[in-house]
Amino acid sequence: MADKDDITEGKDFGLGIPQDYKPFHVKGANALDWGMQNRLARIFNPESGRTVMLAFDHGYFQGPATGLERIDLSIVPLIPYADVLMCTRGVLRSVIPAAVPKPVVLRCSGGQSILKELSNEAVAVDIDDAIRLNVAAITTQIYIGAPHEHQSIKNLIQLIDSGNRYGIPTMAVTGVGADMARDTRYFLLATRIAAELGAHYVKSYFVEDGFEKITSACPVPIVIAGGKKLPEIDALTMAYRAVSEGAAGVDMGRNIFQSDSPVAMIQAVAAVVHKNEEPNRAFELYETIKAELNK
Ligand code: R5P
Repeated sequence: MADKDDITEGKDFGLGIPQDYKPFHVKGANALDWGMQNRLARIFNPESGRTVMLAFDHGYFQGPATGLERIDLSIVPLIPYADVLMCTRGVLRSVIPAAVPKPVVLRCSGGQSILKELSNEAVAVDIDDAIRLNVAAITTQIYIGAPHEHQSIKNLIQLIDSGNRYGIPTMAVTGVGADMARDTRYFLLATRIAAELGAHYVKSYFVEDGFEKITSACPVPIVIAGGKKLPEIDALTMAYRAVSEGAAGVDMGRNIFQSDSPVAMIQAVAAVVHKNEEPNRAFELYETIKAELNK
């Protein structure tokens, strides 16, 4: 039964204590609504401000890429070590257990294959379906300077507008066409365009010279893709340099799931991203976990 006396009998009003206020920990996201911030807080760890996203969406234009032939066998065992899963709705529904507590960033573009022009993409998921899947964010690529640049930018705008209606953030991926330079000027241009159009965070590639300028000029967080498989120490060094130069984490695929020991590699990457572990120490961690697993 409701207790009406309690309305007037409250004691602990905290008089004289200002209501606690902490700035939101995700760059450029202070003015966003609660639902949007809540989803971003599931992606970016509130302690480190960073994220380890595990990307395994490659099949949407590449088919069964090496390491992704059987996602149930190669990726599902990695889920406990990832902060976020990035995949297509097809794989999410068919392979990923619905009980996993990890946030999902949903690949929402498609319409081309690796045999054709990569920039020729369309929005490939309706926002209603993204909501049904309870995703933390949606994503598409922009291909700046490529033949279908305009369409790819329109795709991004469409996703941002539909996500904004429901408090779902959008990650813009700066796609690079097969023959395009991956240099600082290119990523300065592409990441800034994505942020200006309203992307809540942006995936870029790491560049050797001037990456810090890219993260500095982008008003929202940047995460880096891993790119082609590198020796583990090189991939860990790249992740270390990226976060040291302002990246808010990684959205890494091949350098994890194509590693000799994916379970060890994802934990080593997480140590770099969340604990600023130096590459040599992270590589030692990788070797130690790998050896344990091989016992
Ligand atoms: C492209 O297929 C996707 O956007 C991937 O999610 C992205 O390239 C990250 O994967 P990787 O680290 O393998 O480059």
